[in-house]
Amino acid sequence: MDTRPIGVFDSGVGGLTVVKQMMKTLPHENIIYFGDTARLPYGTKSKNAVTKFSKQIVRFLLTKDVKAVVIACNTASSNSLEALRQTFEIPIFGVVKSGVKEALRSTKNKRVGIIGTAATIRSKAYERLIAQADDSIQVYAKPCPLFVSLVEEGWTDNAVARLTAENYLKELVAEDIDCLVLGCTHYPLLKKCIGETVGENINLVDPAKATAKMVKAFLSEKKMLHKKENVAEHFFYISDAADTFDMMCKKALKKAYSPEIVDIEAY
Ligand code: DGL
Repeated sequence: MDTRPIGVFDSGVGGLTVVKQMMKTLPHENIIYFGDTARLPYGTKSKNAVTKFSKQIVRFLLTKDVKAVVIACNTASSNSLEALRQTFEIPIFGVVKSGVKEALRSTKNKRVGIIGTAATIRSKAYERLIAQADDSIQVYAKPCPLFVSLVEEGWTDNAVARLTAENYLKELVAEDIDCLVLGCTHYPLLKKCIGETVGENINLVDPAKATAKMVKAFLSEKKMLHKKENVAEHFFYISDAADTFDMMCKKALKKAYSPEIVDIEAY
């Protein structure tokens, strides 16, 4: 048994979609969440910048004595996972591998769409892992950077969101894909809008659930789960005041939390 919390981070509110699944799958685990609201978006930044930010966040999470870290951000997972694993000794999980696993399970016609930030799409992390598993699968990838701003603004279901989705997604729909990976943890907050845009014949794949299951399997195998009697505590930290963080927290987790501000540059 290991009573230490699990650290989870993202550039902003997107990682809350992963926290939500972790709360369901790992109900007795304490969670420390960090959202880097001061330096968001990550998706327009270079690999070096995202890796530097991610290392600072892991250093901060280690001061909270975390037993493992979940990178609840596709941009940091696809650009910085290896560097983080080389730098830190604790177990570190990304979200890309589970997204790929779910896409492989979902597609029947072997035509898979991937949407994510510019940095995630540029990394080709999804394409690489899919090709390794099955090189007959056609992958159609498209960066959708404005989705992150829409979510951070709380504009998840209005005319602007719908028009943006239509503009970004029509070319993927035209490729006859049968599944679309939401390769950015902000995007599940736009699931309704994205789903209505692409239609019900395209299955939306959210890596969050599979990520939570992967973490559970690991902790269970290593005997690192908290005890079943533990009433889980969840703490939230952000790097700058963000009015919409509280609102999106309530929307994603159906509960209000008060995040604490951290000077992340000090780590
Ligand atoms: N939610 C993050 C992701 O999954 C990052 C979005 C951003 O900051 O650009 O990629």
